Amino acid sequence: MSERATATTAAELKWTPRAAAIAREAGARLREFFAQGVATEYKGDVDVVTVADRTVEKLIRTRLGEAFPEHGVYGEEGTREGMEREFRWYVDPLDGTTNFAHGFPQFCVSMGLEQRAAGLKPDEDGTLLAAVIYDPLRDELFAAELGMGAKLNGKPIRASKTQQLAESLVATGFPSRKRHQSPNIHFYHEITLRSHGVRRAGSAALDLAYVASGRLDGFWEFNLNPWDTAAGILLVTEAGGRVSDFAGEAVELNSREVLASNGLIHEELVGMFQDLFAGRGLTPIPTPEEFARMRAEREIKAKGLE
Ligand code: IPD
Ligand code: CA
Ligand code: CA
Repeated sequence: MSERATATTAAELKWTPRAAAIAREAGARLREFFAQGVATEYKGDVDVVTVADRTVEKLIRTRLGEAFPEHGVYGEEGTREGMEREFRWYVDPLDGTTNFAHGFPQFCVSMGLEQRAAGLKPDEDGTLLAAVIYDPLRDELFAAELGMGAKLNGKPIRASKTQQLAESLVATGFPSRKRHQSPNIHFYHEITLRSHGVRRAGSAALDLAYVASGRLDGFWEFNLNPWDTAAGILLVTEAGGRVSDFAGEAVELNSREVLASNGLIHEELVGMFQDLFAGRGLTPIPTPEEFARMRAEREIKAKGLE
């Protein structure tokens, strides 16, 4: 974020004021659906969707069409509008559907704007220009525009200053599709042992917004989609954090690897990922006999202290 960013006025912002109004309206609809309760439908064995996902995507698509008729929209629930256009919104109308369907209060609306130069191939990225992530239950609106910094409810936010993974609180998520193929449980285990903890709160977009606001020091996940990450990536970088793939290289919206951090613990995380992929430095798990011996030792010690 530049010096200029702190002096940004609402009038200088090109996209986020209108996008924020759309996200707030969408969030208000989600709040109503959440209060009344919705039926769960299945996309896959545990991949769920609700009427709220579809209704709110339709609402966002309509409102974006009114506010930015020259922009395209790419939404999780199937919207593919104007895919040849220079500007494209990646929309997740409800990030955290599993939470939502269970009444677990952690979900959001996520909208990220990309500018795509003429001639880009479908799998090539453009430039992320604007981001809005709205948590309707906490009434928290995270917003960023390229070069203008990141804000939470209008106040500038910065990534944390934590220097080491050992002092960090980080987050991850697990896919609901092809769950048995995900190696992430090993990463979860190892990083839990080397940090203050790993949260798995169930909304990747909010996880990224929390890295941007310093509530989390890092976040990673395998197999996310552009509608999950487009807004969050810009928020993190505008808040002074870093986002890469697991090798520390430039992140691509379609790369299915996202590693975000405050920047200060990034190299340490990349190093750990390299070790884990290579099978180096894995912590041995105690055998049942070793667990029993450790428990007996603790009991003897506790009795001795009585
Ligand atoms: C999911 C959430 C979750 C992540 C999953 C995503 P959805 O998005 O972001 O945190 O772990 O990988 O699919 O399906 O609730 O929009
Ligand atoms: Ca999502
Ligand atoms: Ca979703």
